[in-house]
Amino acid sequence: MSEANNVTLTIDKQTVRVPAGTLVVDAAKKAGIDIPVFCYHPKMEPVGMCRMCLVEIGRPSKDRETGETVLDEHGDPVIQFGPKLDTGCTIEVSEGMVVRGFTEKVMDARLEMLEFILTSHPLDCPICDKGGECPLQNLTMRYGPGKSRFLLDDKIRLAKQLPLGELIYLDRERCIQCARCTRFQDEIVDDPVIGFFNRGRALEIVTFSDPGFDSYWSGNTTDICPVGALTTVDFRFEARPWELNSAASICNQCPVGCNFTFNTRREAKTGGDFVIKRVMPRQNEAVNEIWICDKGRFSSYHFSEREDRLTQPMIRRDGMLQPASWGEALDFAAGKLEELGSGLVALAGGRLSNEDLFNLKSLAEHLGGKAVLNTHVAGGDIVSRHGFKAGTDLAKLGKGDAVLVIACDLEEEAPIWWLRVKQAAERGARLVVANPRRTKLDASASDTVRYEYGEELSALDRLPERFTEAGSLAIFYGAEGLGLAGSAALAAALADLLSGSGVADGPCSGLVAVHGRPNDQGAWELGLRPAADLAGALAGAKAVYIAAADPAGDGVFEKGDRFVIVQDVLLTPTAELADVVLPASGFMERDGSYTSGERRVQRFYTTLPPPPETRPDFTITAQVAARVGLELEGRHAGRLFAMLAEAVPAFSGLSFNRLAEVEEQWPIVGREDMYYGGTTYANYQGLGAHLVRQADGEDVWAGETRAGEAGAQKRGARDAKNSGLLAVPVTRLYDRGTVISQSNTLAPRLAERHLGVHPETARKHRLLDGQPAHIRAGGREAKLVVRVTEAAPEDVLLVPRSMGLDLDGPSEAAVKSLVKEVA
Ligand code: SF4
Ligand code: SF4
Ligand code: FES
Repeated sequence: MSEANNVTLTIDKQTVRVPAGTLVVDAAKKAGIDIPVFCYHPKMEPVGMCRMCLVEIGRPSKDRETGETVLDEHGDPVIQFGPKLDTGCTIEVSEGMVVRGFTEKVMDARLEMLEFILTSHPLDCPICDKGGECPLQNLTMRYGPGKSRFLLDDKIRLAKQLPLGELIYLDRERCIQCARCTRFQDEIVDDPVIGFFNRGRALEIVTFSDPGFDSYWSGNTTDICPVGALTTVDFRFEARPWELNSAASICNQCPVGCNFTFNTRREAKTGGDFVIKRVMPRQNEAVNEIWICDKGRFSSYHFSEREDRLTQPMIRRDGMLQPASWGEALDFAAGKLEELGSGLVALAGGRLSNEDLFNLKSLAEHLGGKAVLNTHVAGGDIVSRHGFKAGTDLAKLGKGDAVLVIACDLEEEAPIWWLRVKQAAERGARLVVANPRRTKLDASASDTVRYEYGEELSALDRLPERFTEAGSLAIFYGAEGLGLAGSAALAAALADLLSGSGVADGPCSGLVAVHGRPNDQGAWELGLRPAADLAGALAGAKAVYIAAADPAGDGVFEKGDRFVIVQDVLLTPTAELADVVLPASGFMERDGSYTSGERRVQRFYTTLPPPPETRPDFTITAQVAARVGLELEGRHAGRLFAMLAEAVPAFSGLSFNRLAEVEEQWPIVGREDMYYGGTTYANYQGLGAHLVRQADGEDVWAGETRAGEAGAQKRGARDAKNSGLLAVPVTRLYDRGTVISQSNTLAPRLAERHLGVHPETARKHRLLDGQPAHIRAGGREAKLVVRVTEAAPEDVLLVPRSMGLDLDGPSEAAVKSLVKEVA
């Protein structure tokens, strides 16, 4: 905002200059002056319900006739204060305003408001999870009465820990009726599944959904609830805030890369070992603001606690995997790789860090082989050239800008991107959503475009405009209904669309691939590519080195007589087949970096000591490499990152120090005044930095022309459809993938192994909702529960990934009910 739009006011004798339209409480906060609030939250519209922010507000007195400011004998404006106190959270600043936040009148009002709130608030502090980081407790200590005039026996007493679903508990009498939770659900995430019920002292929060509090965002309400009325099932009664250590990390459940903080504590029940007690958002306004989704919060670390964690190297002897020392396992693995000569295929999963991928690719190439990325979305090389650049921030998209979202379901695949795109539309950006089926983002779209699976490219011709008038154009694409070749072709066409729009260099323009894993884009930037035919590539290799991937579990790998090394955290079906198993540390047990889908590189830090016999992936690979004559950095992630940044142009100029830089964020969160932004962590450990956009390169993927493959795929989709049914893999947030499945907290919410079928298709094929059916598609088969839904296009079977039938792409399908119809 220009300087001309700023106004000057005085708050507690301090001169403050802020943009016109700023609320008094925000202006004070920006100037470092605390006006306490309960119901106000800087991310939501003010409602003025709690009266905690009462202050004295005066304005320059105006001459009624001339409209001129009245001056006193010293030439200073005469300030006129109202007879009553005002709510600082609902009043905008104005030129010459004078705010008094600490007069006797104000302090009396604060004391009275607190005394009033405490009339119905239980004396739970010693056992309340919020104790230690509770705004009500802290403000009472600072401003409240030492003694109450009200009777203890008149306090409301209700049964405690009322579950609002499986994830969130409500203590009704602790609620101070601020409506932050309900407004967050309505205004911010558009999931109005909780609300107020009853009136007066009987007023309480209830849930309207089945299952209760059915929202991917519920955990955020416990952060912004200013008291301990809302708590999470996994942290409730688990620890006190002052006992907790914290470490900065990055969520590794989707390509958004939300910043969060792991809180840890030593536990008696684990023999004094540190354990993670909870996951809290860490502020990064350009990535996740102060929010995280429930998948990240409730399922990102549980695998590290599994009893069956891989904690010992193993070598196959006499047909059985047997414990071995690191020296034996590394010597054996390296010896066999050298003996077999060229032909190694290293298969890497996108949960590996940039450093891990760099070392793995270096080793594979040193041995005359190649590193292959295990993914279902292609086009990351095109994103390297047309993706986001330094300064891009989805929060800056608004009126005059445009967003196109195609072939993906953002809410299910990358929830925070769904939220940020929705918010861009609310700020006035033109949002076009193109997909063969309805998704939640449709509700925010200016235009929706429907097309048939296989018709993605021609759908681009039917877009309502070419976006040439936009200030910035952000494009998100996925692989729904496409598979690898199809998504590569779509990415190429979208890059053309972006270039043709003439706004490719707009401040927030760029192409974003909605990948399946947190570091898939990093892998593309480092030069890894998927194999067009992964099963064939693995079958044709003499040796396979698989890290953080489970191709056997995905049904694309049989061991045969090839030599197999597996590096992972759990004994996956692939690890069970291996000749050598190398136990890796989890991402919370080491340092490293991920590259988000927005091409932002972000650091994660060591949170827990690693199990003694595990090592970081990059270390293990470096130790194998050392035995085959290749020197790689294996000790220090930061040093390795510096070498990577020297070698890979996209990373040039970056270093671990650069990634750790921070700048001031708004709103202010996580300091002593947790009432203001909630119990979120301030970011002191790094906001990350964007990669450099790469120059245009050759439009070739995996050695074959994209156009040819895409054409074949398109024909395939059409032929399948013509023959009857098309099975289309789709992504669900709560799937049954390896990491999420380890969380007991989220277990009740995981989707059943099901098949989405349109009512008309269900009728044609005699499929009944809730009944099992046998499906055959893409050479695989499974038994899945039928779910009849209008969201499925006709003659299409929506098959969620990681639910028992993992398909590479759309495939011709046959389905049969497993229930005999009752005559
Ligand atoms: Fe406010 Fe918490 Fe009550 Fe919701 S539960 S209205 S956030 S005090
Ligand atoms: Fe993790 Fe993605 Fe959820 Fe963010 S949106 S918390 S990165 S799963
Ligand atoms: Fe201002 Fe509640 S009325 S914070």
